Amino acid sequence: MPITFDSVHRTFKLDTATSSYIIKIFDENYILNLYYGAPIPETYFPGRECRAQNASFSLANPVITENGFTPDTAPIEYGCNGAADFRISALSVRNFRGDSVTDIRYTGHKIYPGKPEIPGQPSTYVNSDDEADTLELYAEDCVTGVKVTLYYTVFKNCGVMTRRARIENGGEGECELERAFSLCVDIPSMDYDMISLYGRWINERNIQRHPLAHGVQGVESKRGVSSHTQNPFVALAARDATEEHGEVFGFNLVYSGNFSALAECDFNHTTRFIMGINPTDFGWKLAPGESFDTPEAVMVYTTQGIGEMSRIFHRFYNNNLIRGRWKTQKRPLLINSWEAAFFDFDTDKLIAFANVASELGVEMLVMDDGWFGKRNNDWTSLGDWYVNEEKLPGGLAPLIEGVNKAGLKFGIWYEPEMISPDSDLYRAHPDWAVHVEGREPMIGRHQYVLDVSRKDVRDYIWDRMYEVLANNKIDYVKWDFNRNISDASSAILPKEHKKEFFHRFILGTYDLMNRLVTTFPDILLENCSGGGGRFDPAMLCYSPQIWTSDNTDPIDRLYSQFGTSMCYPASCMSAHVSANSRTGYETKGNVALWGTFGYELDPRKLTEEQRELVKAQIAKYHDTYWLIRRGDLYRLVSPYENPYRAVWEIVEEDRSRALLTVVTMRRELAPHNIVKLRGLDPDRMYKNDLTGEVLSGALLMNAGIIIDGLAREDGSSDAIMFTAV
Ligand code: GLA
Repeated sequence: MPITFDSVHRTFKLDTATSSYIIKIFDENYILNLYYGAPIPETYFPGRECRAQNASFSLANPVITENGFTPDTAPIEYGCNGAADFRISALSVRNFRGDSVTDIRYTGHKIYPGKPEIPGQPSTYVNSDDEADTLELYAEDCVTGVKVTLYYTVFKNCGVMTRRARIENGGEGECELERAFSLCVDIPSMDYDMISLYGRWINERNIQRHPLAHGVQGVESKRGVSSHTQNPFVALAARDATEEHGEVFGFNLVYSGNFSALAECDFNHTTRFIMGINPTDFGWKLAPGESFDTPEAVMVYTTQGIGEMSRIFHRFYNNNLIRGRWKTQKRPLLINSWEAAFFDFDTDKLIAFANVASELGVEMLVMDDGWFGKRNNDWTSLGDWYVNEEKLPGGLAPLIEGVNKAGLKFGIWYEPEMISPDSDLYRAHPDWAVHVEGREPMIGRHQYVLDVSRKDVRDYIWDRMYEVLANNKIDYVKWDFNRNISDASSAILPKEHKKEFFHRFILGTYDLMNRLVTTFPDILLENCSGGGGRFDPAMLCYSPQIWTSDNTDPIDRLYSQFGTSMCYPASCMSAHVSANSRTGYETKGNVALWGTFGYELDPRKLTEEQRELVKAQIAKYHDTYWLIRRGDLYRLVSPYENPYRAVWEIVEEDRSRALLTVVTMRRELAPHNIVKLRGLDPDRMYKNDLTGEVLSGALLMNAGIIIDGLAREDGSSDAIMFTAV
């Protein structure tokens, strides 16, 4: 049983494969966290409840006087506002009386196998009820009637727990949530580094690591999306933790809207970490009896280093987050028209692409932006989702026929949550753009955001999409989102509910995506937001892959791909070989192979030599398809630590093969000449497919191999397969 209740000590013990977590119901029903760390057999140990001796002006609960307990320093499981816990709070409720003091205490619990869904929101899932147990912990503020259910799902075969909360108004009058975080974790030390992923357009998810300091620190988005600039991922790693050793907590929020992930280190040198919806520009009214569900947060714990944290996330997301047909079925190898043609294409050109691509072994053509309305540039037509017959005479049918005749499947681009000021849709419904009455909205890429918080707007957009998708043979949709949300307001949202806009918007996005994947379960959906501006676990519930970055340069991509791999598996990391990038085709291919792989170029322009290389790459793509997607990743030499050379290895699930890739950025300065492989079976012999040499897994992992002779030119690369013989 991954969850047990010790009724003598009134403790809950939550055991994953790599961690234990202990919650105590303390005096006066305070809910406290006693432990989160490596597995331990005890269900209770005393001494962690009170840290009062070091409190500052300690405020006591008048009923609990003798044991030195104060909420100010206690490891409170879900910190609330106003009742003497002064650290960052997970919950703040402005109650019907107007104050925001909230003090929740345990009232009961339920433990059961399996995992419930969150109404209207994406979340991770169990494949069968015996994979995980769920604990619902009930708490209530007896003065205001605010009721909280804390949900914990504990996966017994991996190092993962998920958490979320439901807040219900059990009081007499309306209340307003001011903040409602998904998780709150109390760690009795601050000797950790915070690792997060920052970036911008064409430079997403760079790794940043810095020591925790006293005070509040963290990452957030207020852009209406999870964003290019910060990702809803944070790890707290022991100061000495490396890729291979040391204690690491990993946190990732299953949410695509404004998020906040904050750590506060107090005078006791302890850390409180909270993660959830960003309280800035958030509020949610609850009438008596109404409730609010927070998004879900995923928590990973390991003592085996940052690399193992990543592998736990990868396996978990492949098994318990990504879903649908394309979770287990091989996805078609695609060529995308964007970098090859931008807006300049017609039926003939696309069919010509398909014919050449087909000779190379490509399996699907994706027609990117530019097929609808008068969309010959990015100034116009978002919202006018009908075919531009000047480019595509006779509509989509003749094009798709031609593409299918070439032996390729067909995919199409959409940006459903946007509206161009120059569009028929905007002229008919200016109030459908996100805007504030009387204020000219900010413009981004010449477009406004469409107000998908409104059901009437969603119904309209869905009907237009449905018409196209239901009446044509479409195998794939790329769903884009090319600006951030400013002027956040909806024309129909009453004044007292305006603070709900951002969350309602993302719920609207989820609803639209859900309609697409449930109505057309065979369509492969790929997410995108100006590259990787919405690369988060919530989007992975709808689309098994996300375009990682508009930057397809393989050397730049190393940084994004190393960063993205912190928690997201290769199976979802969309990567293409493009013409518009530095390095030769070998390196373009070797870097894109660590992802979904595909092409983004005019295949007619490839030289004979490049065509042969592409064919060889495609053979390699097929050969390594499941190895890359299901295998274990080892980041052996990071470009963040070594700007001259990057090395990574992916080991097949059964350890029968491992693909080692070396990219050289600057050979003359590269210091590493030996790389020790990881994850092999020490007792098996492996053949190096480049040299023919056969060496033991033990030798390859302990002595390593000399890589001086590999990737000898700047910008070059080598990918070596080690196969068990
Ligand atoms: C975004 C995407 C690109 C492409 C363009 C089309 O920038 O990231 O891949 O689809 O939009 O306008």
